[in-house]
Formats: sequence, C-alpha cells, structure tokens
Amino acid sequence: MKQLDLLYSGKAKSVYRTENPGELVIKFRDDITAFDGQKKDTLAEKGSLNAGVSTFFFGLLEKNGIKTHLIRKIDDTTMLARNLTMIPLEVIVRNIAAGSMVKNFPIVKGTPLDPPVIVIDFKDDTRHDPMLNDDLVFALKLATPEELRELKQIALQVNRVLRDYLAERGIDLVDFKLEFGKKDGHLFVGDEISMDSMRLWDKKTGESLDKDVYRTGQGDVITSYHHVAARIIT
Ligand code: C5P
Repeated sequence: MKQLDLLYSGKAKSVYRTENPGELVIKFRDDITAFDGQKKDTLAEKGSLNAGVSTFFFGLLEKNGIKTHLIRKIDDTTMLARNLTMIPLEVIVRNIAAGSMVKNFPIVKGTPLDPPVIVIDFKDDTRHDPMLNDDLVFALKLATPEELRELKQIALQVNRVLRDYLAERGIDLVDFKLEFGKKDGHLFVGDEISMDSMRLWDKKTGESLDKDVYRTGQGDVITSYHHVAARIIT
C-alpha cells in the first residue's frame, strides 16, 4: 500500500489516495476545533489517541457484524479504509440529554432518553449543519426511505455495542455522531468514532471525558483522552 496525493483535508483528518482506487489512507492529525472551527488548537498526541480509539471501535463493530470502512490500522495516526461514497449526513444517537439538545429544547441536561433519540443533521459547514427530518432527507435525495431505515437501524445497533462496552468500563455513552458511506450497494459506517465525536461521562463522578473538556476550556483534554483510551483499549 502506497500513500499518494492528498484527496481531502478536514478539520482533524486528512485523506490520501492509494494506488488502489478502492482504498484510502486516513490520517488523524493533532488538530482540534470546536464551535464551527472558531476555536482551534494543535495538541500533541491527539491524532494518535483518536486513531487508536477509532480503529479499536471500528474493530469492535466489525466483530459484532456491523460493516465499517476499516481495513486495518497502518501506524499510530493512520488507518487504511475502504473508499466509500459518503452520504452528507451526521447521524447522532442520544442516550442522555446534553449539548445542542439541551440548548435548543426544554429538557434538563442528564435526562435519560429511553428509547434513544436519533437526530440527523445535514453535513454542511457553510450552513452550520442544520437538522433534517425524513421528508427533507428524501427531498434532498440524500437517502432513499430504505437506506434511511437501514441507517437508523445500524445507528441503534452501534449504540447498543458501544454503550454496553463503555458501561462495563464505568463510562456512560451520552451521545455520538456517525457518518455513513456506500459501496457496492451496501451501507458502511465511515469517518471516525472517537472522543471528538462522542460525549462520555464517568459513571461515578459524572466528569466529561470527551471534546466537551476542550469546548468548555475546563481541564486538559489530552489527559482526558489518555484516560479514555486506557480504559477502552484492551
Ligand atoms: O452538539 P451536539 O450536542 O448536537 O452533538 C451531539 C454529538 O455529536 C456530540 O457527541 C458531538 O461531539 C457529536 N458531533 C460531532 N460532529 C458534529 C456535531 C456533533 O461529532 N459536527
């Protein structure tokens, strides 16, 4: 596998072509951003911590029969992934009310959500990722009704696997965001599953162990990420 030219550079990851058009190299950088990129920093080890947790979680999902883009981890900060046709949706699963749900709606932070709530946003930074509903997804031709049904089903399956795994390690999975892509007519979980894309609370102390530490500026986010990685990766 040879890493060729840069295909795309996002806020925290860079994607490179390989000599195989079906495979991409994804590099997790040390960059961290919040609030639509208004707050940004470069923090040593952040890339390797998120690459480690993300590849671990993708592996865990695969073991549970869920298709992901992971082929294998290459080194500390890079993974080899299937080249998917990405769907510009952010599929968020919420088990506990927090973040934008608490900001936008009359619900108290920490309220358990049973069944979990699925929220789907349109992935478009220029429009600040507006929330969609099913009819908008179909009108914008982002997914068919069958695809949307399957997408939600997979999101809930992922939630069960991650929530149970984390619960055993004393961590509450508050919410997380997934992105999906298509290949050969199948849906795959793509992008990343890391502390940047989840809310994790310590079950005993309620302490945030995710990107909220950076968003709120309370504490050292890399220390929290190390703590999560050590508890998760076995
Ligand atoms: O901000 P909000 O409460 O809607 O985020 C819900 C979850 O989705 C959080 O875990 C957050 O980290 C994640 N998310 C993300 N990328 C976005 C928006 C939200 O990873 N662009």
